[in-house]
This record gives sequence, structure tokens and C-alpha cells, in this order.
Amino acid sequence: MEVAACVVNLSSIADIGSDHAYLSKYLLDNGHVDRVLNVEVRQGPYDASCKTLAAYLQNGVAKVILSYGIDDVSPAEADAVIIAGMGGSTIIDILNKDLSHTRSFKKLVLQPQHAIAEVRKYLIGHSFHITQERIAREGDKFYEIICAVPAKSKQHREEMYYHIPSLCLGNPCENLLPFLKHKQMQQEKIIAACQKKHSRSAVEKNKEARQRLAELNKIIASLKNIG
Ligand SMILES: C[S@@+](CC[C@H](N)C(=O)[O-])C[C@H]1O[C@@H](n2cnc3c(N)ncnc32)[C@H](O)[C@@H]1O
Repeated sequence: MEVAACVVNLSSIADIGSDHAYLSKYLLDNGHVDRVLNVEVRQGPYDASCKTLAAYLQNGVAKVILSYGIDDVSPAEADAVIIAGMGGSTIIDILNKDLSHTRSFKKLVLQPQHAIAEVRKYLIGHSFHITQERIAREGDKFYEIICAVPAKSKQHREEMYYHIPSLCLGNPCENLLPFLKHKQMQQEKIIAACQKKHSRSAVEKNKEARQRLAELNKIIASLKNIG
């Protein structure tokens, strides 16, 4: 439960796109938070969330609402906003709908399924500081979790590190090396696919993948030296 590990020193959260609300139940069952608010845009997952949280709904520590993103979530109800399991562009749409409202929450915990670099670029471009990154693994699949807080300045991040969770490098977890090797394989596949193509976009893609692969190789070599 890598997302749950990001929920520390918070008394309440809003889980946007809660699906079955298993995360909220876990957080309440294990005393991570005192209150949860679950937001669902679809009736089916809304009903499923109500079912999972039935006992907590009765005693008033959980609430489930049918709504879009954080439109109806107030910072008085939730210290942190969690958005997990959605595409990066959907996450950005939710955050960007009313930026000053988004910035009123203490913390964002985001787990984009794809377009992860775009989410990092959006956060940094809108003066959020990325404070923690984690890597979750389920078999061959890796998930990146990004924690961010509203700030006054813009963080600097090298282009390469929009594509990988650089904060994990200082404190490597067991998923880091397999994750980087997975990224290495992805770049190798792109290079192989572009090899015999001559279109401008294929040549560009090939060049970019070669650069990323070289940087990944360097990072992996430096980790092996530490280990
Ligand atoms: C793939 S599920 C992810 C569930 C869970 N958060 C997880 O990580 O396993 C995405 C959920 O987000 C909901 N959803 C999508 N867009 C939403 C939005 N703008 N506001 C609220 N919920 C949304 C969908 O109905 C769906 O239940």
C-alpha cells in the first residue's frame, strides 16, 4: 500500500475516484486518518464505496459524494487530496479546473497510470514542490506515486527526471532497480521499433530514446556502485 504510506501526519483525506473505497477503508481501519471523503463521478463506484464504508458512514467518519474531481471538496474536510489510478491528463484536468482551490489543500498524493512526466511538469510549472516519490509494484507493472505541496517558488528538475522518480534515488527502495531496468527495456524497444524508419518523428523518437537510455545506464551504474 504505497499510496497509504504517503498519508502521514494528516487527519483527513479526500479520495477522488475512490472506486470501491478500499483505500479509505484501509486508512480508517489502520488509524492513518480520522476522516475520509470519497468522491465518485459514476453511480456504480459510488454505490460500491457506500457499501465498503457502510459502518464508517453510520458513525460519520466517512462521507461519499457523487461529484467531479475536487469541485465539492473543501480544505476544511480534507487535509490531502488523493487521486490514484487515473490517466495523467485526467488528473491534470481535475487539478487545473480551479488552481487556487487545488492550492488550498495541504498535500496532493497522485498516482497517474500514464503521462507521469506531464503530471510532474504540471506540478512544477504551477509552483508545487514534489516532496516524496514512491514506486509500487504488482508483478511486472510499476506505479509511480508523487506527493506534492503548494509552494511559492518553482522547483528545478532536469528533463530526464520528469520521467523517473528522482527522489527515490537518494533512498533506494527494493522496487527502484527493477523499475529502472523496466524503463531501460522500454527505451530499447522504442529504439528497435524506430531503427528502420526514416520519418522525422521516428528519427526524433530514436534520438530521445537513446539519450534516455544513456542516462538510465548511468543512473543504474551509480546505484550498483553504491550497492
Ligand atoms: C481506475 S479507477 C481507480 C480507483 C482507485 N482510485 C485506485 O487507484 O485503484 C478510477 C475511478 O475514478 C473515477 N473517476 C474518473 N474521473 C473522475 C472524476 N473526474 N471525478 C471523480 N471520479 C472520477 C472513475 O469512476 C473510477 O471509479
